[in-house]
Amino acid sequence: MRILITGGAGFIGSHLAQTCLERGDEVYIIDDLSTGSMDNIRFLQDNPAYENKLFVHINTILNADIMLELTGICDMVFHLAAAVGVQTILDKPLESIVTNIQGTEKVLEMCNKFKKRVLIASTSEVYGKHMHAPLVETDNIIYGPSSKFRWSYAASKLMDEFTALAYHRTNGLEVTIARLFNTVGPRQTGAYGMVIPRFVTQALKNDPITVFGDGNQTRTFTFVKDVVTALIKLIESDQSVGEVFNVGGHEEISISDLAQKIIQMTGSSSTIKLIPYEEAFGKDFEDMLRRVPSTDKLESITGFKPDKRLDFILSQVIASIMGK
Ligand SMILES: NC(=O)c1ccc[n+]([C@@H]2O[C@H](COP(=O)([O-])OP(=O)(O)OC[C@H]3O[C@@H](n4cnc5c(N)ncnc54)[C@H](O)[C@@H]3O)[C@@H](O)[C@H]2O)c1
Repeated sequence: MRILITGGAGFIGSHLAQTCLERGDEVYIIDDLSTGSMDNIRFLQDNPAYENKLFVHINTILNADIMLELTGICDMVFHLAAAVGVQTILDKPLESIVTNIQGTEKVLEMCNKFKKRVLIASTSEVYGKHMHAPLVETDNIIYGPSSKFRWSYAASKLMDEFTALAYHRTNGLEVTIARLFNTVGPRQTGAYGMVIPRFVTQALKNDPITVFGDGNQTRTFTFVKDVVTALIKLIESDQSVGEVFNVGGHEEISISDLAQKIIQMTGSSSTIKLIPYEEAFGKDFEDMLRRVPSTDKLESITGFKPDKRLDFILSQVIASIMGK
């Protein structure tokens, strides 16, 4: 198979590229390196076995010519390129909306032109301010006001979902949407606000661990290799066409307890420092206090459920940040 991965030099994209290459696919990557890095894929480029199997294009998905060429060549498309992370969205609000809305439109337009199978990476952020658990794909969506710019990430990804589903309904495009919950593993950077690599880096330096808000907000975490397995199973399933799926882990933990666990696992002397949201993100921010997925739908279609425990995930991240 020839696989196009947009955002393939990013955290999840690089793991997906690795798995596709390992199973014998030809992989085409397009990435503008805005949050991704060549360091994520250099080990693949340097592997002689992949010399004529991996093709990397440093370019933007907004470039119609290159997207036309790459979509035409490939059999299926994983669309992962996006402006990612609350910090990115707050720092570059307009650029982020353009990437997430116009970029996804471009990908879908090209897939429709060549009738190529496509998977769109969405996010648990689309659910908004729910407190109940678990979240199911048919739940209502609750956002804050447009003055709180953090919701623009959720809204732009939701618009991507609508556009993808509209292409399916109108043109029969074979599209699947994966709503990813917090995904973690080696190669994820803490530079754009991702909580686990940020905490681990602080703990390893014995610096204070900076917890935003009161630390009672909870999350679940999914190991990146489980996410890759789910994405591949979804794109290979006929039953997933035109459907939305949660992809997430099940072990709920508060952010304060997460910080404590990381201190304990790294043997760190760090203390926990609470920072009010406004100080960390400015007035345009409000948090989602809880995010726990139901993955029944994913399991019923693919037979797969992300099951890596948090201790295992943390040990992998700690080892990779320590360079082991
Ligand atoms: N990591 C998570 O916890 C998580 C959770 C929910 C959803 N997601 C989604 O998964 C996808 C991948 O996220 P990630 O965690 O690997 O983040 P990432 O930032 O590592 O990956 C995104 C990649 O897209 C690239 N990119 C951005 N704009 C581009 C453009 N215009 N043209 C080409 N490339 C561009 C970036 O350089 C980066 O390599 C994203 O769509 C994100 O919204 C991730």
